[in-house]
Amino acid sequence: MVETKGIRPTPGSQLSLQGKTALVVGGSSGIGNAIAHGFQHNGARVAIAARTPAKVREATQRLQETDPAARGYVVDAARPEEIDGLVTSVLADLGHVDILVACQGMTILKPAEEFTPAEYDELMQTNLRSVFFTCTRFGRHMLEHGSGSIITIASLAAHCGWPLASVYAASKHGVVGLTKTLAAEWADRGVRVNAISPGFFMTELNQSKMDTKRKENALLRTPMGRFGQLDELVGAAIYLASPAAGFATGTVLNVDGGYLASGI
Ligand SMILES: NC(=O)c1ccc[n+]([C@@H]2O[C@H](COP(=O)([O-])OP(=O)(O)OC[C@H]3O[C@@H](n4cnc5c(N)ncnc54)[C@H](OP(=O)(O)O)[C@@H]3O)[C@@H](O)[C@H]2O)c1
Repeated sequence: MVETKGIRPTPGSQLSLQGKTALVVGGSSGIGNAIAHGFQHNGARVAIAARTPAKVREATQRLQETDPAARGYVVDAARPEEIDGLVTSVLADLGHVDILVACQGMTILKPAEEFTPAEYDELMQTNLRSVFFTCTRFGRHMLEHGSGSIITIASLAAHCGWPLASVYAASKHGVVGLTKTLAAEWADRGVRVNAISPGFFMTELNQSKMDTKRKENALLRTPMGRFGQLDELVGAAIYLASPAAGFATGTVLNVDGGYLASGI
């Protein structure tokens, strides 16, 4: 069960998501799931999408305990034709999407010189190509509507080099470039596009992939000296999604315990 203790604005406040509909792709676990619960907590009607049917079903049931209108969709966002199908299904069920979070992602840690073309393609398709088509296909709908807020999930590896994460870092640098470009392209048409760069959170993605030494290094490099808690990330997403961020677009919000601020 995801705990989202964060801010609880009163309906009508600038941070309220009351009356908004939000879709979180990659919302069946980890960061995306915490954001989905946080949005729901703050008044939004929420839908999630991811690949594994059992995980989607279970995560949707948990959201429906709070709001029976919550929806879950099985989709491989690396396949643009499946994203087109998702757009059709979500709009048929929910009528409109005000907020999109493109949170899907994966990582492979290994020496750069050992990556195979298949591994490169899988990572880039999951982390960048799928984010491009998710944002642009739902972006079309938001542009037609003249409003919307899109949030992408970057990484510390979007800002600096990370040994053993060459393709991941390339994909996340790409996510930031995409976010800024869509923001500039759509700014005068009512659609805002921003990114969050999380520090280290021990989700499925990190828990299994980072060995003990890498986790120790991560803690040494993080001035707060600890990993983040998922509910410490949720407020950033609520802010970017809400009317309170009405003049914020193309920004990258770091939630990283001071990692990127620190020189040593
Ligand atoms: N955890 C961290 O410390 C951290 C730090 C920086 C950035 N991030 C980024 O945050 C995002 C979420 O990561 P997480 O840590 O929360 O990992 P996670 O728990 O593994 O969540 C990843 C989510 O994406 C979904 N997903 C993966 N590939 C997909 C695809 N092709 N189509 C649709 N859904 C897909 C997964 O479900 P299925 O596998 O069932 O599809 C799952 O719901 C990623 O973009 C990651 O790079 C995480």
